Amino acid sequence: MPEIVDSRDSATLEEDHQVISPWEVSSKHGGKIDYDKVIDRFGFQRIDETLVERVERLTGRPAHAFLRRGIFFAHRDFDKILDAYERGEKFYLYTGIGPSSEALHLGHLVPFMFAKYLQDAFKVPLVIQLSDDEKCMWNNLSVEESKRLARENAKDIIACGFEKTRTFIFSNFSYLGGVFYENIVRFRTCVTANKAVETFGFGGEDHMGKITFPPIQAVPSFPSSFPHLFSGKDNLSCLIPCAIDQDPYFKMARDVAPSLGYQKPALIESSFFPDLQGETGKMSASDPISAIYVTDSAKEIKTKVNKYAFSGGQDSIENHRKYGANLEEYGAGRMLTGEVKKRLIEVLSGLVERHRKARAAVTDEMVDEFMAVRPLPHMFD
Ligand code: TRP
Repeated sequence: MPEIVDSRDSATLEEDHQVISPWEVSSKHGGKIDYDKVIDRFGFQRIDETLVERVERLTGRPAHAFLRRGIFFAHRDFDKILDAYERGEKFYLYTGIGPSSEALHLGHLVPFMFAKYLQDAFKVPLVIQLSDDEKCMWNNLSVEESKRLARENAKDIIACGFEKTRTFIFSNFSYLGGVFYENIVRFRTCVTANKAVETFGFGGEDHMGKITFPPIQAVPSFPSSFPHLFSGKDNLSCLIPCAIDQDPYFKMARDVAPSLGYQKPALIESSFFPDLQGETGKMSASDPISAIYVTDSAKEIKTKVNKYAFSGGQDSIENHRKYGANLEEYGAGRMLTGEVKKRLIEVLSGLVERHRKARAAVTDEMVDEFMAVRPLPHMFD
């Protein structure tokens, strides 16, 4: 029997007026999220310049802007993945999305854009979980609607440019079974109800669906959950690019892994894509004015940025010229809010337009191909 994990260290963060959990991200009293505190409390390792340079050296290409700019700022054992890679050992990538809306917003794209870079730079396979079961339970969607949204989201994901020869996308409703399910059951027996409550804040009134969900997100970090891909490679390491609110699932996976005889998954974790109103939370699919969607037109983007985007600028031109704000040219008072917003609108409209074109080219057949349970013989080439 695997050993039961019941270490009482909570991974969610509710002190310091910040709440960061898989379901809520907020900072009270209008303050910014303090990422230094997050690092301390979650026990992350920090991604520093040395690590970024090491990635550049090992991959022979410039680091992604999200790494250079500190968007991906924290990790767990990413250095060990690099040590192994240097010795010639490969790994696989795992990330996912809970399909809660028809179209993705820019915050959703961050882990996928980054996973695409990691996949290309390290030449490794990627598995993508569409947790349609999760959103069905949390957002009160019907099973049918969740499955439909999952396929729609898969199109946006494919539009990020992933290679079919190295990428497997799966929906929980379709894929749950076989060794994947066996691992879920093994995992469940390793975690007490106390531990689940403490980690995720479940209450007695939460239904069993919610309480039994976390193992389903955790076990794709074990290679044996994908026998068609990694059969005989039970020691393959897993690297998970994700936003820090997903950390509790994988902290738990790391706690459980040794008792099931698996490697602990490594993580590379990002800060949140701020909502348009400031830096106190994250873009939310259910709050249209907090987010820019990949389906927004250039005109909508312009209106949202001009009307709703918090800039940090001063309340009058005079004060702005005198005190400045928080960006270089802008901070020094040389650029005005309108000029900064104009530049932002250009950048975002360009990105959204490129995405729109790529998504229009994704067919239902392509979705079926990416989601087919199949071996990927060239995934490490
Ligand atoms: N729980 C995530 C969400 O709400 C979706 C998800 C499933 C995920 N598996 C993942 C995110 C793996 C990151 C990595 O969107």
